[in-house]
Amino acid sequence: MNAGGDGPVNLVLLGHRGLRTGKLWNFAKSLHTPADVPSLFYVRTRSRENGYTLEELAGLGITEKTVIEKLSSSFKGWLCQFDDLVVGFCIADRGTGELWVIAVLPDFERKGIGNRLMALAEEWLWASGCNRAWLTTDVDTMLRAYGFYRNRGWVDWKVENGLRWMQLFPPRTTSP
Ligand SMILES: CC(C)(COP(=O)(O)OP(=O)(O)OC[C@H]1O[C@@H](n2cnc3c(N)ncnc32)[C@H](O)[C@@H]1OP(=O)(O)O)[C@@H](O)C(=O)NCCC(=O)NCCS
Repeated sequence: MNAGGDGPVNLVLLGHRGLRTGKLWNFAKSLHTPADVPSLFYVRTRSRENGYTLEELAGLGITEKTVIEKLSSSFKGWLCQFDDLVVGFCIADRGTGELWVIAVLPDFERKGIGNRLMALAEEWLWASGCNRAWLTTDVDTMLRAYGFYRNRGWVDWKVENGLRWMQLFPPRTTSP
């Protein structure tokens, strides 16, 4: 555990060239440091939908410190950067199979960034031995996130505790 330290965390920086044309290419991968974590909060607190304030996140136990701890354990994240600005990110947990969070800045939605981030997270979960991925989201099916997940093959699992739970199985396997 290196919470608050300078060591690397499980964050992968994706290349940013080509965003102006709506295409992502030349994805360079490297391990990043806790210094990148504040940018995740910058993006998450500016979401067009499903937004959270810093205070709300803190109330859920989600702070820079706890995210760094997670990224030093079974969690891994991918972030997309355009020039010096992080414009989207995604974090998953191979320990439980949870797709923990995904968010893209409003001005950068609909450019394929969310799809690319989710694909990387899903592929990593399967490669890590997970045989099922799951997530929770708002119950409102009119929100973009719901159609986005369905478009990627995620299916409804249950509605519980005021949240919609969805799941995804690896390619070429079927649900139990
Ligand atoms: C949900 C979110 C991550 C999607 O990111 P994005 O970068 O805009 O997504 P993309 O541009 O990669 O689009 C992905 C695909 O989903 C499809 N899609 C998106 N919304 C859809 C909908 N409501 N119905 C059907 N398809 C939909 C797009 O058409 C696209 O498909 P295509 O590649 O086949 O054309 C983004 O809108 C976001 O950050 N929302 C706010 C935060 C949030 O809600 N996070 C999830 C919390 S649970």
